[in-house]
Amino acid sequence: MHHTIEKLQKERILSFLPLEVKPAKLEVFDSIDSTNSYLLSQAKNGDHTGWVCLAEEQTNGRGRLGRTWVSPPVGNIYCSLIWQFENFENLSGLSIVIGVLITYLLKHLGVSQNPQLKWPNDVLIEGKKLAGILLESTDRKYIVIGIGINWAAPLDKAIGLSDFLPGSLSRNEIAAKLIYLLFHYLPIFGQSGLSVFLNDWRKHDCLFGESISLILPNKEISGVMQGINDKGELILATARGEECFCYGEVSVKK
Ligand code: BTN
Repeated sequence: MHHTIEKLQKERILSFLPLEVKPAKLEVFDSIDSTNSYLLSQAKNGDHTGWVCLAEEQTNGRGRLGRTWVSPPVGNIYCSLIWQFENFENLSGLSIVIGVLITYLLKHLGVSQNPQLKWPNDVLIEGKKLAGILLESTDRKYIVIGIGINWAAPLDKAIGLSDFLPGSLSRNEIAAKLIYLLFHYLPIFGQSGLSVFLNDWRKHDCLFGESISLILPNKEISGVMQGINDKGELILATARGEECFCYGEVSVKK
């Protein structure tokens, strides 16, 4: 289905937000180096929890593991948010939570295809990457949550939202729904931890039971993926028994 690309506009986004959701600040840039870099630099000067930044284009978009996140102005969503958590013990599960929230977003948007979650936080549809998440913090006080959602994907390995939206939803409404979900569920995660989200993760966990390689900075470990534990770590059944990992890059064995 063809969708026109509506420009992101602060006032439109705010008009779609329910009254109880009040970003401390909401900024929309035509072009910026990286919404995450921008908010990381802002997070250093004071209390900015709840500050949201969106851009039409990023000239230096960043992905996980030092990769580039190609960010042309073609309707993709580039969104970052500063959040402060009281309890840092819970943070390892944050990337899991954000992945789950993107599945909620797709459901809210009426996407009927079942999204897959690939640990730690890729969101796929039909096996292709729809969205990526980058979590960063300066001093562990504030976390910058960066979310990139493809609208139209030029790459073979990726896929875009525009192919799956049932009607003509405004991009501003999509951005507002994303912001709403973050503001609604992050306090719940802050209070109750990951347990609330684990079932939903498991429904979409596309690696469960797969033979995978986990690529770490200095080695590669093979095993069968056994899901995630209550901290959001990957459980791998290896030749040495079950081991849990809090980071790494997964490749699925064919
Ligand atoms: C990944 O899958 O590697 C994570 C990609 C994260 C991309 C988003 S787009 C908004 C925010 N700003 C960035 O520079 N990166 C994140």
